[in-house]
Amino acid sequence: MSQIVIYGNGQLAKLAFARLKHDSSHQVVAFTVDGHLIEADRLLDLPVIPFERVVKHYPPDRYRLFIAVGHVKINRIRAERYGQAKEHGYRFISYVSSKAVVWPEVEIGENCLIGDGCVIQPYAKLGNNVHVGTASIVGHHTVVGDHCYLAVNVVLAGSVIVEPYAFLGASATVRDQVRIGEASVVGAGAVIGQDTKPKSVYAGPSPQLLPITSDRLPLF
Ligand SMILES: CC(C)(COP(=O)(O)OP(=O)(O)OC[C@H]1O[C@@H](n2cnc3c(N)ncnc32)[C@H](O)[C@@H]1OP(=O)(O)O)[C@@H](O)C(=O)NCCC(=O)NCCS
Repeated sequence: MSQIVIYGNGQLAKLAFARLKHDSSHQVVAFTVDGHLIEADRLLDLPVIPFERVVKHYPPDRYRLFIAVGHVKINRIRAERYGQAKEHGYRFISYVSSKAVVWPEVEIGENCLIGDGCVIQPYAKLGNNVHVGTASIVGHHTVVGDHCYLAVNVVLAGSVIVEPYAFLGASATVRDQVRIGEASVVGAGAVIGQDTKPKSVYAGPSPQLLPITSDRLPLF
């Protein structure tokens, strides 16, 4: 069991707290966030420490960190805080939900999160600081680079390469053998069948608005 400080004070930080509390052997002892972002000195009954002073209060030889930041600035903020904490000498945990299926031949880096219902197939590799949201599938021989963010229900078929910093939105699907370029954004529901260039943005299909109201539907 490790004692953990969570970086963050938003919804993802609270989610990380709940996951670690109810589904890990680790103990969360505090939150930390940049001083100017502190809204209250306690969160979920734990102290909130300015990141600038976390080394003094929770030194890296005794505590581990978990950076719970989302995809803001195409994952750059999470990557920056991860890098800064590493420079301070911190080690990180990775959280893998007990309700995920992760095969033994899988490699997972540090500060990763694998949510409930995910399936990570054999020979998949996840770098450091990767978020894999609920019910996502990472296919066999797929490689996900550092600092990527998969929202929920993302499907990466076999032998996909996702370059660092990419963001894949809810229910995005990537065909086998495809390469997603660095810092690409694949919008919710988009289906990608060929390689994407770095920093490209793909939106998913828009639903069709029918010219009727719901009370005209026979089934309701
Ligand atoms: C694809 C996606 C990323 C687009 O992001 P968005 O914030 O909705 O983008 P916007 O609609 O504000 O458009 C951004 C820009 O692209 C432009 N744009 C949007 N659609 C366009 C189109 N079809 N053609 C040309 N330009 C377009 C907009 O005009 C806008 O440009 P502007 O800032 O100069 O006005 C978004 O729809 C998406 O799918 N996000 C993922 C959501 C998700 O899965 N969330 C889970 C998080 S855990």
